Amino acid sequence: MTQSNYVVDPMISAKSIAARVEVLACEITEHFTGTDKLIVVGLLRGSFVFIADLVRELDLPVEVDFLETSSYGNSLESSREVRILKDIRGEIEGRDVLVVEDIVDTGHTLNHVLHLLKSRNPNRLEVCALLDKPSRREVDITATWIGFEIPDEFVVGYGIDYAQLNRNLDHIGKVRFV
Ligand code: IMP
Ligand code: MG
Repeated sequence: MTQSNYVVDPMISAKSIAARVEVLACEITEHFTGTDKLIVVGLLRGSFVFIADLVRELDLPVEVDFLETSSYGNSLESSREVRILKDIRGEIEGRDVLVVEDIVDTGHTLNHVLHLLKSRNPNRLEVCALLDKPSRREVDITATWIGFEIPDEFVVGYGIDYAQLNRNLDHIGKVRFV
């Protein structure tokens, strides 16, 4: 069900996000130092702003690819059934791969994507998620790097949508129905 009357209350500022992205990029660069190429796989569409900022801070040879899974539609709840709508273009066998996700919520999306990518035998497969809602987890899965841990709130901005809107906010806010 879609409710249309809501406001977005600020939660994480653009400045805080930028500072955190810089730290994450340093840690990721250090982890993959010496790689001949890091394939950064962004999960569409929510990660598009995060991945754009993150890759520009990585001091590594980087290839960018995208994968799209079925989404929430206009709902606030995960469907738990994950389908691949668009697969990556490149080969990842023997490669170093970093999956970039906007939010880990129930964990079903990431679980499905990691199983799929693992079956293609990458050399290393790690995950960087901007946001983590651990209290919502239904599948035992954790990202290697997490930007911010947040409570069980529905959030938007910095690439993340509610019914396809609010992706263009420069900060993260929480949706409050009025
Ligand atoms: P999961 O499969 O339940 O972990 O859901 C992960 C996906 O659900 C994320 O990639 C987001 O696209 C979406 N999602 C989870 N929480 C939120 C939220 O608070 N706002 C917007 N999208 C969300
Ligand atoms: Mg998503």
